[in-house]
Amino acid sequence: MGFVILGIETSCDETGVALYHSEQGLLGHALYSQVDLHAKYGGVVPELAARDHVRKLIPLIKTLFSEHHLKTVDGVAYTAGPGLIGALLVGAAVGRSLAWGWQVPAIGVHHMEGHLLASMLEEPTPTFPFLALLVSGGHTQLVNVAAVGKYTVLGESVDDAAGEAFDKTAKLLGLGYPGGPAIARLAKQGNPDAFHFPRPMTRQPGLNFSFSGLKTFVLTTWKAQEQNEQTRADVARAFEDAVIDTLAIKCRRALQETGLKSLVIAGGVGANQRLRTRLTELGNKMKVAVYYPHPIFCTDNGAMIAYAGALRFAAKQFEPLAFEARPRWSMNDL
Ligand code: KG4
Ligand code: ZN
Repeated sequence: MGFVILGIETSCDETGVALYHSEQGLLGHALYSQVDLHAKYGGVVPELAARDHVRKLIPLIKTLFSEHHLKTVDGVAYTAGPGLIGALLVGAAVGRSLAWGWQVPAIGVHHMEGHLLASMLEEPTPTFPFLALLVSGGHTQLVNVAAVGKYTVLGESVDDAAGEAFDKTAKLLGLGYPGGPAIARLAKQGNPDAFHFPRPMTRQPGLNFSFSGLKTFVLTTWKAQEQNEQTRADVARAFEDAVIDTLAIKCRRALQETGLKSLVIAGGVGANQRLRTRLTELGNKMKVAVYYPHPIFCTDNGAMIAYAGALRFAAKQFEPLAFEARPRWSMNDL
């Protein structure tokens, strides 16, 4: 028989919904991106994001249910954090209300766990244990994944996340938001030998990252040159090369230190084609299997939340729907 989980993602600027069946896999998913809404501000405006989730979430769920002739599900998973608080509250309120109405469990999912497990939505599925490189707009982490729920962060960014560095660099170069795809497009036209930027924190031991200093190199290089299309592309290329190289060096080090034989890429920056090629080459050299989610499941989406929710549901890890009011309540108990 199996069970069906509705997944809801509203942590930032994408409204994502999906239905995951424990035996049939992903039944369907839908995504509404707010990119156009925020583009003119050069970044996500939290209040606008929350208000737009309010407008889009329920219609998306309704359409998904009617497409799949469903009236209810066995559990509702929603992103409980980390993310923008107003945006998160929309998904949490809708998710828990639906669960309450249907009298099924509500499952608060950690957004990064969703990203981490997204590559398991597709064949071939990575098997535990594996090393995960999580590279999103808010996080850059290397994680030892022993099993579902057994995560050890081996290293992370001490300042900007990789995606944040892409976004800020794009802004400095006068490119639109989101910066990652814009930089990647432009870098293709760049001359790889025009400029060389440092590979931060690769000369010292450890698995942490630091990407905020690259902004300074981008800015000073860009300001010092004649600002034309070719220079813009050359700077984009030098920046992208520096980030990709740094990520690859740290992945190699983490694989050597842990002896893990599988590497899983997750998060929005994982959609970067040149990063994917570079890590595949690394995997071939080290005899390590490399897995990526489909690019649409690298960036924020409902499918990864439905999937992580389904695993938690199967393990009976969900909160009760009950809330309480206390007629007697001593201040001593606070
Ligand atoms: O995972 P995600 O959708 O949201 C967060 O959880 O943060 O990641 C968004 C980040 C943005 O910083 C965006 O610029 C970056 O992923 N990104 C890319 C590419 N596509 C999206 N960065 C580099 N190359 C790309 N192709
Ligand atoms: Zn994300």
